[in-house]
Amino acid sequence: MKDQASSLRQMVKREQNLKGRKKVSPNNSLRVVAVSSGKGGVGKTNVVAGLALSLARTGKKVLIIDADLGLANIDILFNVRPQLNISDVMNGEATIKEILVDLQENISLIPAGSGISDLTRLSDAQKLALLNEFDAIDGDFDYVLVDTGAGISDNVLYFNIAADDCIIVTTTEPTAITDAYALMKVMSLEHGYKYFKLIVNMVKSEKDAKRVYFSLSQAASKFLASAVIEYIGYLPVEPGISESVIRRVPYVNSNPNSEFTKAMTKITGVLSRSVPKNTDSGNLKLFMSRFAVKKTGKSVRKTKK
Ligand SMILES: Nc1ncnc2c1ncn2[C@@H]1O[C@H](COP(=O)(O)OP(=O)(O)OP(=O)(O)O)[C@@H](O)[C@H]1O
Ligand SMILES: [Mg+2]
Repeated sequence: MKDQASSLRQMVKREQNLKGRKKVSPNNSLRVVAVSSGKGGVGKTNVVAGLALSLARTGKKVLIIDADLGLANIDILFNVRPQLNISDVMNGEATIKEILVDLQENISLIPAGSGISDLTRLSDAQKLALLNEFDAIDGDFDYVLVDTGAGISDNVLYFNIAADDCIIVTTTEPTAITDAYALMKVMSLEHGYKYFKLIVNMVKSEKDAKRVYFSLSQAASKFLASAVIEYIGYLPVEPGISESVIRRVPYVNSNPNSEFTKAMTKITGVLSRSVPKNTDSGNLKLFMSRFAVKKTGKSVRKTKK
């Protein structure tokens, strides 16, 4: 799998050098952040939307990849109805620019939907053609945020591993904490992934969030020898969020002075000041190539907690 991975990466690099376009540089400012969780419904999509909005406010250009196969719903939060998705690019029926949806200033969306899982069925040549599509938008963004969906399916794991940062979202519920631990366990023990960033959502006070962080990091240091969990912040329970989802107006936009929005801004600051843990992704195309190659590698065992 390693050979296959490096040969596709080399193909990508060679292609880029031949074209003499963007240089693949580890210092490229693009940062790919995967947002994941063990349990569903803990707030990933809201975190992705909130991070995108906070980053966009500081002038950063953000691309959201909605990679949640089952329940893609960033589009609902922003009240858009994408007509095309990444499958249309794979079929050669649209370019990557044609499927991009502008959500608001500085924020774009790639609706991936079920198309992402079709990556497994593409030949290397088709994959390369798709990856080359990403050249068209490389350099257009400062951040890529990937809403991966919940659980430990191949898609979730490989997006997390290919990204520069992996944010795990949990709530204070024991089931959510156990499932967050299970996800980190598979990533660290089976894939050698070490660094996780933690957001505790829907808390009553920061004390509760810190308690969750301490119990997870204690378990990780005991049983997942090399894993490091970095607490990047908490988000309070905000009853107005579900109302804003119903009205389809992103909560952060309509409530700039709320405790939730302030907490989101704080997390965004912590994230942007932190050092990315995976440093060789360089650009969007390389990130996607890592994902695509992983997808054709051995399938991921579903581990019990
Ligand atoms: N801080 C919060 N306070 C109150 N409600 C919240 C908060 N965060 C998220 N929610 C609500 O929780 C529900 C789940 O949120 P969201 O859809 O973001 O979770 P998810 O992890 O993306 O779910 P899924 O696994 O289904 O994709 C939504 O109804 C949302 O409005
Ligand atoms: Mg979601």
